[in-house]
Amino acid sequence: QTAASQPAPAAKMALPDAQTVTSVRHYTDRLFAFRVTRPASLRFRSGEFVMIGLLGDNGKPLLRAYSIASPSWDEELEFYSIKVQDGPLTSKLQHIQPGDQVILRPKPVGTLVHDALLPGKRLYLFSTGTGFAPFASLLRDPDTYERFEEVIVTHTCRGVDELTYGREMIEGLKSDELMQELLGDGLDKLRYYPTTTREESAKMGRITTLIENGELFDDLGVPPLNPETDRAMICGSLAFNVDLKALLEKAGLTEGANSDPQQFVVEKAFVGEGV
Ligand code: FAD
Ligand code: A2P
Repeated sequence: QTAASQPAPAAKMALPDAQTVTSVRHYTDRLFAFRVTRPASLRFRSGEFVMIGLLGDNGKPLLRAYSIASPSWDEELEFYSIKVQDGPLTSKLQHIQPGDQVILRPKPVGTLVHDALLPGKRLYLFSTGTGFAPFASLLRDPDTYERFEEVIVTHTCRGVDELTYGREMIEGLKSDELMQELLGDGLDKLRYYPTTTREESAKMGRITTLIENGELFDDLGVPPLNPETDRAMICGSLAFNVDLKALLEKAGLTEGANSDPQQFVVEKAFVGEGV
């Protein structure tokens, strides 16, 4: 629609690329998720990110990269966010309520997409913290289960509460009748492997340690990493990405990109040292 045929409401004119918040849920004092309306023209590949934000005090958009956590078929868009208390954007974004508007630039990009991987048997999705967000999209996309025989998602956080968003999303998938067919008998096509490092839980330890000592493979009853069969996506802090990438390369896997599909892909969950 052109502005001439359908004038935008005044509020929307003030905020370019505005979308309306439809729901907000807080998980911890550092984590929350929210959903917004989806621009009718927005097409994206599950796993991609967009720029979202609010108007800054100077009247200019204050934008940050955010992985779309909802799958490409969803009529709304979901985001899973950190709250940085003195963060320029999230110090404000954490207070959004249903009905509020956020800016969303409809230009999705990113490397955590199926197109950047060669076909394989088993897909590993390795995440820490809000690095789970792009995988929340991919795990809800039927294409993921059509491309791979087995999907293993690992999520490592400091504490148990930080796992809630991912755990509930996966429980929701497994109880969804439409998804059950894709997940196979026993729903075991999707394997969820949460770990904590600073609070007691069923499985403790950095995933890098659990790969190096073989516990991940023993626990899941799968063979060690193999470039012939295994594909992987990595999303976490820079230090995490660097360490995990080294382990995958040691196992013989090669990093790919949209223009050069290979055996694994990496994307930073954020820039900086973490909070
Ligand atoms: P900033 O000034 O941007 O950050 C301040 C400091 O907070 C950073 O230096 C870093 O130390 C820390 N920090 C920032 N983001 C995080 C985080 N996610 N986890 C832990 N520490 C962090 N953030 C999300 O919450 N969800 C996402 O889905 C997401 N996707 C991203 C995708 C990409 C490709 C990139 C590059 C970043 C992504 N981020 C995501 C980070 C996001 O862009 C912002 O940095 C974040 O929203 C904080 O913004 P801010 O302005 O409040 O603080
Ligand atoms: P740890 O508690 O041992 O540092 P953060 O909150 O700092 O972003 O970390 C999120 C999770 O990722 C934590 O459980 C943390 O473990 C883990 N982690 C941080 N850096 C690495 C790394 N280089 N390799 C593996 N895991 C990491």
